[in-house]
Amino acid sequence: MAAVTDAQLLERIAQGHIVESPDEMTDEYRQTLVHILTVSADTELISAPSYYTAAKNSPSMNNLISALAIIQDELSHAHIGYRILQDLGVDTEALIYDRDPKKFKHPYAFDVPLRSWIELIVANAFYDRAGYVLLGDVYRNCSYGPWRRTFTFGTVRTGCAASPPRTGRSSSRPWTGCSR
Ligand SMILES: [Fe+2]
Repeated sequence: MAAVTDAQLLERIAQGHIVESPDEMTDEYRQTLVHILTVSADTELISAPSYYTAAKNSPSMNNLISALAIIQDELSHAHIGYRILQDLGVDTEALIYDRDPKKFKHPYAFDVPLRSWIELIVANAFYDRAGYVLLGDVYRNCSYGPWRRTFTFGTVRTGCAASPPRTGRSSSRPWTGCSR
């Protein structure tokens, strides 16, 4: 596709066009998408240690396994966001492992320690609703197809289907893979 201006791209999107690759983007569109995806992926990632702190105080083994399942889900959600960022040309190895921790873009809520099982349940109930509202909007209105489709049947499975893993890329630092 020939290069487009921001105004032309906005007009196409207003007519229902779904953007499928960086070739179709303007610089501003790409930068904004990278910013939003980084906030989303970082939020998923940073939720894991927050939940884990409380999970260690689980009242039973059953509860602990439930909490660990939530954490595993969140890491999978983060993986999807970073995987899409990779397709946009972002060096996610550097983004995840070399970035100053203060530069991660997550809500303040995950800086508040969850110290008990009750705090974990209450916080998760609110965070889960907030995520449903925010990501529901992405599902309904996002103009970037690869991200939007990750919400079609559930985030993990379709996220992988939309963006097959790259080959030939190795890392000495293991990162989460799609578990389902
Ligand atoms: Fe999540």
